[in-house]
Amino acid sequence: MRRRRVGQAAYAARAVVAFVVVMAGMTGSISSAVAVDTVAAQAIYKANACASCHMVDRKLVGPAYRDIAAKYKNDAGAQARLEKVVKNGGAGVWGAIPMPSHPRMSDADIRTVVQWILAGAPEK
Ligand code: HEC
Repeated sequence: MRRRRVGQAAYAARAVVAFVVVMAGMTGSISSAVAVDTVAAQAIYKANACASCHMVDRKLVGPAYRDIAAKYKNDAGAQARLEKVVKNGGAGVWGAIPMPSHPRMSDADIRTVVQWILAGAPEK
């Protein structure tokens, strides 16, 4: 009984620590079980003109974010790969038009916006 309670307390403490770390944006890789920071992601999406080529649910110049989420649904490596595409640019996956590079975006911003896209770009 006693050991069990200690174990639960330790588990709860770990959960709190994990939450705080995620909130501070200090983790290298956040599991998909963690809630996406929708508000931050949408601000990043607007501030970096992603919206001039991408819409959430409709193809514009680039693919709809919901289509991107669907395409990579079962792809565990998608987060890391798409972070590189946003940073360095990409081509040939969705059609003839290339995706431009964003060398000035921070890795943290890129990570947040890609997590949001892969989660289906929820509105809130
Ligand atoms: C000038 C238009 C343009 C802008 C601006 C743009 N994109 Fe794209 N994006 C594209 C096109 C076109 C593609 C499809 C490229 C391809 O076929 O490989 C694409 C593809 C993508 C993909 C999927 C890549 C893949 O390999 O499947 C992601 C994710 C993405 N864009 C995110 C973003 C984000 C985030 C931003 C803003 C920081 C952004 N895009 C800004 C045009 C744009």
